[in-house]
Amino acid sequence: MSSKITVAGGAQPAYEITIENGLLSSVGERVRPLTRAKRAAIITDSNVAPLYLKTVVDSFKKADFEVCSFAFTAGEPSKNLETVNRIMECFALNRLTRSDIAVALGGGVVGDLTGFASAIYLRGIDFVQIPTSLLAQVDSSVGGKTGCDLPFGKNLCGAFHNPLAVFIDSETIKTLPESRIADGFAEAIKAGAIRLPELFSLFEEGVDDKIEEVILKSVQMKATVVENDFTEKGERTLLNFGHTLGHAIEKYENFCGLSHGEAVAVGMAIITKASEKAGLTKIGTYQRLTACLEKYSLPTKTDIPLNELCKIAINDKKSTERSIKLVLISEIGSAFIRQIPWDRLYNFIAEGEC
Ligand SMILES: NC(=O)c1ccc[n+]([C@@H]2O[C@H](COP(=O)([O-])OP(=O)(O)OC[C@H]3O[C@@H](n4cnc5c(N)ncnc54)[C@H](O)[C@@H]3O)[C@@H](O)[C@H]2O)c1
Ligand SMILES: [Zn+2]
Repeated sequence: MSSKITVAGGAQPAYEITIENGLLSSVGERVRPLTRAKRAAIITDSNVAPLYLKTVVDSFKKADFEVCSFAFTAGEPSKNLETVNRIMECFALNRLTRSDIAVALGGGVVGDLTGFASAIYLRGIDFVQIPTSLLAQVDSSVGGKTGCDLPFGKNLCGAFHNPLAVFIDSETIKTLPESRIADGFAEAIKAGAIRLPELFSLFEEGVDDKIEEVILKSVQMKATVVENDFTEKGERTLLNFGHTLGHAIEKYENFCGLSHGEAVAVGMAIITKASEKAGLTKIGTYQRLTACLEKYSLPTKTDIPLNELCKIAINDKKSTERSIKLVLISEIGSAFIRQIPWDRLYNFIAEGEC
């Protein structure tokens, strides 16, 4: 199967996402017509490098690129400015110019960091996304959000920078550990819960042999939302369902506890329990959501005190002056935004009072 989706949005040119099994070994020749770059810097992490770096390097060399590469230590704790700096060092030491390209080969951490380094190095060079985790394939490689964490919180530093193209080879997820597959499912279940009830139902039935359909539907949904609202002034905010508390959990655990997908799963569950209690969500939605998440071994609860999570959440960059924008669902497939004053956040989350 081969599918192509074009994504427009923002002042930057539109780009194409190609989803095709086994495309990794021909990715260099697919990039060649898109750029006059002489050099390609392939950025990856310590888990992905031994699996796929050689295939991708060979493919770019065959397509007449001078290739250099850099692999940082895998994991969210590497998603910081120090790694951004090291990626730019790799660009500079290998004399990448404005017309050269970077290539992000890996999960969401590689994609966000490489995209951000590409956005600021020489005031912006092109970059290509080759997402290898399911989470990156269904979500993070699409939409042009790049960045890193700061000691104060998650994704607090970043830039909107569209890729030149995205190449998704779903074969790569065969080497992903089970728990990382579940991470990708969390974001895809989120896509279903906020906008695509048929995708949510697919998850309820079971998606084990339908991964490509899950990727395609999630990418199509995100592409549409991003096209309508590139800089997140409205509809794009809905993609943050589960993320306010999810990010707070990640931060509370110093990015070494639950993974991003797991934390988002807990965030979706807590917020939906509260909104159902508050009468803002159709009765039974929380039960349906948690049953679906648990079917894919995702957590739906946390031992972290809710007041601690609230404290972190109000320091989040999405928190406006004295209130916080929460994404809630009225039922599966339909999301909306509710502004909650800081001083009422805990009561809302813990007791469903609003
Ligand atoms: N930019 C966006 O719009 C956006 C959207 C959602 C999430 N994100 C970000 O994405 C990150 C999470 O992404 P992630 O879950 O991919 O994290 P990740 O990049 O850390 O990858 C998860 C783990 O899987 C490994 N891995 C990746 N591909 C593999 C493969 N094919 N085989 C074996 N192992 C492989 C990685 O080395 C890592 O250990 C978070 O930082 C989150 O904030 C960004
Ligand atoms: Zn996310």
